[in-house]
Amino acid sequence: MARKFFVGGNWKCNGTTEEVRKIVTTLNEAEVPSHDVVEVVVSPPFVFLALVKSLLRSDFHVAAQNCWVRKGGAFTGEISAEMLVNLGIPWVIIGHSERRALLNESNEFVGDKVAYALSQGLKVIACIGETLEQRESGSTMAVVAAQTKAIADKVTNWDNVVLAYEPVWAIGTGKVATPAQAQEVHFELRKWLNENVGADIAASTRIIYGGSVNGANCQELAGQPDVDGFLVGGASLKPEFVDIIKSAT
Ligand code: G3H
Repeated sequence: MARKFFVGGNWKCNGTTEEVRKIVTTLNEAEVPSHDVVEVVVSPPFVFLALVKSLLRSDFHVAAQNCWVRKGGAFTGEISAEMLVNLGIPWVIIGHSERRALLNESNEFVGDKVAYALSQGLKVIACIGETLEQRESGSTMAVVAAQTKAIADKVTNWDNVVLAYEPVWAIGTGKVATPAQAQEVHFELRKWLNENVGADIAASTRIIYGGSVNGANCQELAGQPDVDGFLVGGASLKPEFVDIIKSAT
């Protein structure tokens, strides 16, 4: 089953109104492959979501970087899935390693969040990935399988899920996974989905790579058979994000 290439830009906790406008202008002026070939989603901080949505070209979409695990209410500082839907935000990133590590988000909590966001009609970029210590101890697959299982335990319909494999040791370090390293984990993840969730879901679910992707290394990574796109951090704030989008072809 054909999987449309997916390029996400995670702006993390960066940007001023002026910087955000500049990035959006660059994206709006860019000549990129059509929406039939590549799906592009950018994820500004919450406070800029409405602005970016209002300015961004219509063939690109926006994602929030998180949302609350259940219905909104007395949860100071949180943003609910319902609010994102109300704002017309179609996507949300859930389970990013920075939140898992810094805010102690457990596998189960991430699984609950993914399920709740999907139940409200959001599409989810669900992040998984091992630390350097886990990789060096040979437990990469066990770690990412456990993270994926916690999602699979709560989710039945995977149509609106993109799985983002982001090795923690590659995030923001400039130390990108080699194409072979990325392909190996993506292949094993697809195999895990095939054996534990279903053949159709394994064939159709996009597994994207994140971790120090840039304009120079994206082509070779994109050429791997089980790499269906990218979740880009630092480089998504720069004009080279356009080159990464172009690696879809
Ligand atoms: O969500 C994006 C990842 O954390 C990758 O970030 O491209 O800056 O390494 P990076």
